[in-house]
Amino acid sequence: MAGRRELFGGRTAAILALAGSAIGLGNIWRFPYMVGQTGGAAFIIIYLASCLLLSLPIFLAEAIIGHRAQAGTFGAMERLAPGTKWKWLGLLTVLSPLVILSYYSVVGGWSIDYLWRSLSAGFRLGADGSVSSDFGRFITSPWVPLLCHTLFLGGCAWIVSAGVKSGIEKFNKVTMPLLFVLIVIIMVYSLSLPGASAGVEYLVKPDFSRITPSAVAAAMGQSFFSLSLGVGTILTYSSYIHEKENILVTGVGTVGFDLLFALIAGFAIMPAVFAAGIEPGAGPGLIFETLPYIFAKMGASAPWLSGAVAVLFFVTIVCAAFTSAISMFEVGVAYLVEQRGVSRRRATLLVFAATWLLGALCSLSFGPLSGVRFFGRTLFEFCDFLTSNFLMTFGGLLFVLFVGWKMPRAAVRDEFTSGGTSRFNAAVFDAFWFLLRYVAPLAIVVIFLTNFFA
Ligand code: TRP
Repeated sequence: MAGRRELFGGRTAAILALAGSAIGLGNIWRFPYMVGQTGGAAFIIIYLASCLLLSLPIFLAEAIIGHRAQAGTFGAMERLAPGTKWKWLGLLTVLSPLVILSYYSVVGGWSIDYLWRSLSAGFRLGADGSVSSDFGRFITSPWVPLLCHTLFLGGCAWIVSAGVKSGIEKFNKVTMPLLFVLIVIIMVYSLSLPGASAGVEYLVKPDFSRITPSAVAAAMGQSFFSLSLGVGTILTYSSYIHEKENILVTGVGTVGFDLLFALIAGFAIMPAVFAAGIEPGAGPGLIFETLPYIFAKMGASAPWLSGAVAVLFFVTIVCAAFTSAISMFEVGVAYLVEQRGVSRRRATLLVFAATWLLGALCSLSFGPLSGVRFFGRTLFEFCDFLTSNFLMTFGGLLFVLFVGWKMPRAAVRDEFTSGGTSRFNAAVFDAFWFLLRYVAPLAIVVIFLTNFFA
């Protein structure tokens, strides 16, 4: 390709962008309730181990491919394994983030709508004790969710079209510190609520009897999901990291931020859930049901404060969704720009058009198109099922096998140790190599089987 590729400005910019991709609904909702359901502090200990021993090596494998090749998913495979079947892995990981982005943008759209509501009418309890947000009716009504999906995806297109440095890097540099500040404020509010201590206890009390093999698999799956592994976003972002930067430093930084955010989010969400007297076992969709209920309930005694926290909360959700969505958007754009010679603007438009269409169908699959089923699932459910259970794990497995078994050991070592200059990295390389070749592939197969059959 003619011309130089645009790169991130430095190590901090790279870590913030990667953390932006990783930190999302997985941290804010999925992690806290999994901790509660699966053994409290005991789960956190297993989760830490999974991050370190499993997801960090997988993350590094993806990062090494992108950093080494200095190209997006498809280009990386062509460069590192030209003329082989690995190009299919390149193609798969161009497509899978776009499928995720399509339905992710629908949820991003809902959060924009909820931000708007928290700014305007706020959330109130009705006479029957239900909350005014009325999630079920909202998502089945065709027009507003479609409009919000369009707004959300349009926002992503706007950021991505501005480029790697002045679009993606700049947005993450402003948004990521803001996200941390916001979640800490929400945590402080949540911990100050009467009855909050039950939520704290729920998170910190270890219950080792609940640590079963399936809890371990759940922890591994959660750390895999939370780090956005297996779909080529980490690979693509890493290809924008300067050659002289070390990949282990970036990886440890990103995993550390992701973990820290998940823990703070746990202490922001669960105390409020307990203070409102709600059962904590709900799934990701309930951000739009349980939390508005909490805001409405708290609002009865302190409307101003609860209203303000509701706004901050939905700002957090919208920002976290944007920073993740642009990382998926960029994978498709990188492919079109690098492999097809399309201009960045045009590439952005093409990705927007394709994902808007699929996303619009996903959005409508809650209402008018709810009768159209794929293997018994609506289109939204099917896209989610396909990507979470198949494409992410399959992609992750192939990336790990590629680095562990296809790339020459010397090349991987060279990346890992910055050409042998880092003594610490050289000392831990053998451990990394072992985890990557044997532990990670096996663990991914376990995650896959539990996702699929459990
Ligand atoms: N990591 C994101 C979260 O914690 C979700 C996610 C999974 C993701 N796979 C991804 C984000 C791929 C971007 C790209 O919410």
